[in-house]
Amino acid sequence: MASKARIQTVKADFLDPSLYDDTGLSGLPRISRGTLLAPLSRAFDLAEGRKPGHAQRVAYIGVYLANELGLDAARIEEVFFGCLLHDAGMAAVPAAPRVDTARGTRLIAGNASTRDVLAAVPTGGWADVLEALTQHCEHGARIARKLGLGETVARAVAHHHDCWDGSGLPGSQAGDRMPLVSRIVAVADRVESMIDAEGSPLMVRRRGPALVLEMAGSELDPEIAQRMAALAGKDEFWLGFYDNDLPATLMSLNYGGIMNRDELFEFIGALSDVVDGRNGRETGRGRRVAEAARRVALTCDMTERRADLVQVAALLQDIGTLGVSSHVLSKPDILTIDEMAIVQLHPIYARDILSEVPGLGAAAWWVGCHHERIDGKGYPGMLEGDEVPAEAQIIGMCEAFDALTSDRPYRRAMSSADAIEVMRGLAGTRFDPYLFERFESSLATFSAA
Ligand SMILES: [Fe+2]
Ligand SMILES: [Fe+2]
Ligand SMILES: [Fe+2]
Repeated sequence: MASKARIQTVKADFLDPSLYDDTGLSGLPRISRGTLLAPLSRAFDLAEGRKPGHAQRVAYIGVYLANELGLDAARIEEVFFGCLLHDAGMAAVPAAPRVDTARGTRLIAGNASTRDVLAAVPTGGWADVLEALTQHCEHGARIARKLGLGETVARAVAHHHDCWDGSGLPGSQAGDRMPLVSRIVAVADRVESMIDAEGSPLMVRRRGPALVLEMAGSELDPEIAQRMAALAGKDEFWLGFYDNDLPATLMSLNYGGIMNRDELFEFIGALSDVVDGRNGRETGRGRRVAEAARRVALTCDMTERRADLVQVAALLQDIGTLGVSSHVLSKPDILTIDEMAIVQLHPIYARDILSEVPGLGAAAWWVGCHHERIDGKGYPGMLEGDEVPAEAQIIGMCEAFDALTSDRPYRRAMSSADAIEVMRGLAGTRFDPYLFERFESSLATFSAA
């Protein structure tokens, strides 16, 4: 794993920040909920341990199927969001079960059917897997509500593991009582899981229709399963998986409406709350740090528009921690070298995910650098001096100050004065002294107000 850390360093050496700076000095992108959520859904794939793009491929299948079923435009949008978020709750499962056998991993990753899990529980001791399955449905529904995507989407997420014949998770619905959108999500999820398991859409093209029909009337709504089997006979449907720009196709649907400034901050703030939960922090901490980062950016004479982007980057700085096991994130002891190497991947995950969002290229770069230090001892790129963007340092300073002034399991919160003193000792090594001076002045102005 130590070698992994070295690989990241080499990778960062040839990364060109200008590739990310697609926004220059422009401000917040005018963007729809769907355009933002399609790339960010990859963070939920990470939390679940799935191959990147699982949620996106489920959304592609779900929307295609919804069109085939002749649903109206509003319902198709709900299918889209239900698919993108169906496993989002995995990010909030407090202690996702850790099972090392091939079968256990397969069950957790959702490649198996709900019936497989239920059948395994009495004999294989998969009660914790069952618990995680149940919890991720509930948590996912809560996340959908917090994102303001409506009750239909939330219910679709809550019931996506229900079975048509009533043999699903405890408390699940059956038959027509299963929400229609959840029935479509369930079919799309099973088909994508087959692709995941087979490793190639072409393999599923051959065997998939029969497998879907096998589940018709038991796990899956028979009518929707029939439609899916018919759809699976079309080359055009399968060719979509080989479109290198499947994410761009999903983003271009522009579902969910263009967000205004307040809506954008609320949407991203809700995602930040999920990250807080994942890291065992109080809800709202990410929002607080991001507001502080905005104030410091303004104190550094950045424009309002650039300060807005700094706030967005700060809100999403730790979205990559969804890719770090909750066991590592909540470990009370000192991390091993291997665990440290895993934690140090989180800025890379975040940078790669955010760089896919139109208009957030610069923010992606800052987020990727929020653990760099000007003395070159940071991670993942060991950048030095001016190579570390001021915006990344501002985010890092606000994060550090908030961490020092918050209670930790192993120490009480420091006073602001003590925290500033500790950080002053890092000016010139971790942070640029001028930026630190601006940070202090922003803090003084804010405290006085
Ligand atoms: Fe699921
Ligand atoms: Fe899934
Ligand atoms: Fe971080």
